[in-house]
Amino acid sequence: MRLAGRVRVPGDKSIGHRAQMLAAIADGRSVIEGLSDGADVASTRAVLASLGVGFEWSGDQLLVDGLGLRGLCGTGQVLDCGNSGTTIRLLLGLLAGQPGTVTLDGDASLRARPMRRVTALVEQMGGQFALPDGDRPPVTVRGTQLRGVCIDTRRASAQVKSAVLLAGLTADGVTEVTERGLSRDHSERMLAAAGVEIQRDGLTVRMTPPTHLPGMRWGVPGDFSSAAFWLAAAAILPGSDLTVFDVSLNPTRTGFLDALTAMQVPVDVEETGSWGGEPIGTVRVQGGALVGARIDGSVALRALDELPLVAVLGALAHGETIVADAAELAVKESDRIVAMRDGLRAMGAQIDATADGWHIEGVDGLQGAPIATRHDHRIAMAHAVAELRSSSPIQLDDPAVAAVSYPSFLTDLRKQVIP
Ligand code: S3P
Repeated sequence: MRLAGRVRVPGDKSIGHRAQMLAAIADGRSVIEGLSDGADVASTRAVLASLGVGFEWSGDQLLVDGLGLRGLCGTGQVLDCGNSGTTIRLLLGLLAGQPGTVTLDGDASLRARPMRRVTALVEQMGGQFALPDGDRPPVTVRGTQLRGVCIDTRRASAQVKSAVLLAGLTADGVTEVTERGLSRDHSERMLAAAGVEIQRDGLTVRMTPPTHLPGMRWGVPGDFSSAAFWLAAAAILPGSDLTVFDVSLNPTRTGFLDALTAMQVPVDVEETGSWGGEPIGTVRVQGGALVGARIDGSVALRALDELPLVAVLGALAHGETIVADAAELAVKESDRIVAMRDGLRAMGAQIDATADGWHIEGVDGLQGAPIATRHDHRIAMAHAVAELRSSSPIQLDDPAVAAVSYPSFLTDLRKQVIP
């Protein structure tokens, strides 16, 4: 079995959320091209539509009629963010400075995820929140006039950093946010592209609030995190030669390429241009022998959403693979440290969970097993990749969960594989 040819993946989820939010508070019309058809990006759109934003499809372009910088007006509604952590956390920041009151809620997975990491910081700006269930959704936001302050997020989280920046858009005075490691920087790039005064100094971003945001044409490049499933699949199938094209190569996102290289997978990257302030290009991967490696520090941070795939690679690599410095994996759509340990172990891998990653001894092949997807798209898709080196099929308890980011992945993968 091997993979060959060229693949294009759906639009970047992180950029898609942000493009819709910035368009919602722009003056007049924005056009978004290349938006993902995943359920998470649709959750953001549905919440914004409930707050009065006009969305209309014209072919594959999304036309957005923005309501202006302070135009989102809550009327006490309870709005459903589905499975999407980015939707709820970014909107907690954005809505804190908008008029009216809104309650944000989500599915069982989202209701298990921490929110105070955002609300506690936006409270320093004057934000008003109620969290009747402690740290978890639902969260009620009462809009108010915020003030710009200097905030240390005490973590490396793009969702937290972005929530503070979005709150800062309507604040009095400058907002300064410092994080503990450089998380993905789409918000900074996109705000700067929309003309907002953004300065970066090391791990600190300083933003002067704009008087308004213009309607924009946003191009959403392919999602590197979605591309990574293909790259991993090709890497574990000897004889494969696969190219993913038109994919975002934002350096804060491409740690998985470093992980592949560390595991001695042949990788060729070609930057072909930029789209929406993001570098894009092609990535070609050839399958062959994998060698275990240690993935930690800034590489682990830049590969955060792809670490379940590093576990799959490690399970099939020669020797030992250690993933460390990734404790955040435990509070993603599921506890990904436990989910991958349990799933891969059931498939015959030698993998132990640690507090911040895994310790893996590679084996030659895997076998089929029932897999609990735990409301987590990446857990479903990572095991579908592992199945390619399995002697019998796996049974995902909820294959449809892949639709959160990549609705067609499981069928596309089956079609592309050469027996
Ligand atoms: C995201 C940030 C990341 C990532 C998530 C999307 C974003 O989380 O895991 O899937 O779009 O801002 P962090 O907040 O941990 O960086």
